Amino acid sequence: KQPALQSVYKDYFDIGAAVNLTTIESQKSLLAYQYNSITAENDMKFERIQPEEGLYTFEAADRIAGFAAANGMKLRGHTLVWHNQTPDWVFKSADGEPVSRDTLLARMKSHIETVVGRYKSNIYCWDVVNEVIEDKSDVWLRESNWLKLAGEDFIAKAFEYAHAADPNALLFYNDYNECNPEKRDKIIRLVQSLQEKDVPIHGIGLQGHWNLNGPTLPEIREAIERYAATGLKLQVTELDISVFDYEDKRTDLSEPTAEMLERQAERYGQVFELFREYKDAITAVTFWGAADDYTWLDNFPVRGRKNWPFVFDEKHEPKPSFWKIAGPM
Ligand code: XIL
Repeated sequence: KQPALQSVYKDYFDIGAAVNLTTIESQKSLLAYQYNSITAENDMKFERIQPEEGLYTFEAADRIAGFAAANGMKLRGHTLVWHNQTPDWVFKSADGEPVSRDTLLARMKSHIETVVGRYKSNIYCWDVVNEVIEDKSDVWLRESNWLKLAGEDFIAKAFEYAHAADPNALLFYNDYNECNPEKRDKIIRLVQSLQEKDVPIHGIGLQGHWNLNGPTLPEIREAIERYAATGLKLQVTELDISVFDYEDKRTDLSEPTAEMLERQAERYGQVFELFREYKDAITAVTFWGAADDYTWLDNFPVRGRKNWPFVFDEKHEPKPSFWKIAGPM
């Protein structure tokens, strides 16, 4: 039997995978053997947990929490405040008009209290706020309903509510494009402004949705260095490395070429070597899935194109990438 990543990385960081109700069945043994942490890919998002005001639907989230508990895995919470996958009702009053700042913050508070409170004994760490920094360099925060209706301090409030609901949970700010220097500077500015105000924040999540040719290794190192300099813990929260280059928009491949798999392995090897180097800062590396039979990249950014981004193939067998990260180091 092949080595388990969770054992290989025992002295470095947790090894996680995002899961859903299908994969906790279809990838059950792979997940339980290889990983010691999971994240719900969608089932703890606002629209899934509270589709209508006051109507909480915890069934799927509970099953995922149960799967983690049954297999002795840690559980990351994802995510409390985001511009996506949040139902419209949150931002509207009964007459269909936009809600007031006070109402919006009250809704946010009761959502966070209920959800964080429910999983207090299961979830050790939450992505409290997700993707609020704008990608365009001349704009500070993403123009979302949260921002428009509540103003900038909805971010600090989210962390405060989460901390009040579970003072032991580690609270993370999570975002992507961590290797774009301008965006990263803004992320750091945000995090530091929270730290200066003594807002309870404990970590930064680097999503890590990467391709074969980018970001480069020095760019990733720079991101880790700069984030770590804030003094916060780091987690790679949503790692996937497509077998395509950024520029490659081909849609006609039915399987990855040997060359792609080789390059992917090379890259996984280098990236994990880098993560190991920063083991004092990095406490977990979570893949955004587990094996190539299912990944959100099957439909993003190109619909219906597979990207084979993981270290296990469609049959859950180890790929060259697996041996590069699990082999002798
Ligand atoms: C993605 C899920 O994987 C998809 O199934 C869903 O349709 C959209 O969201 N950044 C995040 C994750 O923080 O929540 C996203 O997950 C991927 C990008």
